[in-house]
Amino acid sequence: IWCANIKLNHSTLKLIHLLFCSLRPCVRRYRVVRRLRAVVTMSGSWEEFFATHLPPTDFEDNRSLLKEFCDRHDRQSHRIVLVTSGGTTVPLEHNTVRFVDNFSAGKRGAASAEYFLEQGYAVIFMHRLKSLEPFTRHFSGQKLLDMLEMQEQSNNTTIRVKQDSVFALAPVLSRYQAAHAAGAILHVAFTTVSDYFWLLRAACEVLAKSGPRALLYLAAAVSDFYIPKDSIPTHKIQSDSGPPVIHLHLVPKLLAPLVNLWVPNAYVVSFKLETDENLLIPKARAALEKYKHKMVIANILQNRHQRVVVVTREANQEVLLTREELLAGVDIEAPIVDEIVRHHTDHIAERGAAGSR
Ligand code: PMT
Repeated sequence: IWCANIKLNHSTLKLIHLLFCSLRPCVRRYRVVRRLRAVVTMSGSWEEFFATHLPPTDFEDNRSLLKEFCDRHDRQSHRIVLVTSGGTTVPLEHNTVRFVDNFSAGKRGAASAEYFLEQGYAVIFMHRLKSLEPFTRHFSGQKLLDMLEMQEQSNNTTIRVKQDSVFALAPVLSRYQAAHAAGAILHVAFTTVSDYFWLLRAACEVLAKSGPRALLYLAAAVSDFYIPKDSIPTHKIQSDSGPPVIHLHLVPKLLAPLVNLWVPNAYVVSFKLETDENLLIPKARAALEKYKHKMVIANILQNRHQRVVVVTREANQEVLLTREELLAGVDIEAPIVDEIVRHHTDHIAERGAAGSR
C-alpha cells in the first residue's frame, strides 16, 4: 500500500529490497544478542543468590549421599525421581527466632514418594525437616502409641501391637521395610530457602547422568520472597524499638536454570498452588510456556487433596476423588503418580534411552 501510494518505480523498489537483504543478518544477530543478554540477566540473579548464601553445614555429607545413591541406581538403569516436599522458611534473624514460612504439611510429597516406590522408582525424598515423610505419615501424632499395648510382669516388660491395629500397621511396615532393604529411598532435609536451593542444585548435578530416566517432582512450597543476607540482623529483633519494617526481595525462580542447564533431558513436573480458581489454569499454562518443562500439577489450597488438574502442552486433565473416596482415605497421589509415570515412559521412549525399571 505504501509503495502504491508513493508510486515508487521498479528500480527504487529493487534497491530497497537489496538494502533489506543486506540488513537481515544484522537484524538476526541483534535478536541473538538480545536473547543472550536475557539469559545472562536471568542466570546472574540465581548465581548471585548462590554467591551470597553459604551452603548448609551438612551440605557435603548430603552431596556424597546423593552421589552414592544415584551412581548405584544408575548402574542398574533404574528410574530415579526427586520428590521435593514441604515448605521453605526465610529467617528474619541470623540467630533465628522468627521466620517467614510457606504453607505445606508435606502430605503431597510423602504420599507420592510411596507411590513412586510402588512403581519401581528409586526415590530421593528432599523434604522440610519435621514435615510428613513416607510411611510414618500414616501414624502421625498419637496414632502409633495408641496402637501399642504394654504388659509388665516382674522385671519383664513387653510391648505389643494391639490385635486390631495389626491390620493397619502390617502393610505399611512391610512396604517400608522392603523399600529400605532395597536401598530404594534416600531422605535429605532442608529448612530455609537457601538450604533448598543448595540441595536442589546438588541433586540435579548427580541426576543429570540419568538423562531421561530422571524425573523431577517439585511439590515443595518454595518461598517467593527473601531478605538478603546483609539486611538480616544477627540477633533477635527487639520490639522496644517499634514495629520492624521488613523489605523482601524476589527469590529467583530455579525452574529456569534447572530445565535449561542442570537436567535438560529429565522429565520435569512443577506444581502451581493458587487460592483463586480463576487464576489456576492460566498461571499453570503460563509457567509451562515460560519454563518449557513437561507438566504442571495445578491445585487449589482448599481442595488440593480431592482435585488437581494435570496440565501438559496438549491437554488439561482433571484428577478428582469422589467424596466417598476422600472419606475412605484414598490418596489422590496414586492416580497423579500413575498419570506421570505414563508420560515419563513416553518421554524415555522418545529420547531413546534404556529406561528399564
Ligand atoms: O504438602 P501439602 O499440604 O500436601 O500441600 C501440597 C502443596 C499444595 C504444597 C503442593 O501440591 C503444591 O502445590 N506445591 C507447590 C507450591 C508452590 O510453591 O507453588 P508456586 O506457585 O510458588 O511455585 C511453582 C513452582 O515453581 C513450584 O514447583 C516450585 O518448585 C517452583 N519454584 C518456586 C519458587 C522458586 N523460587 N523457584 C522455583 O523453581
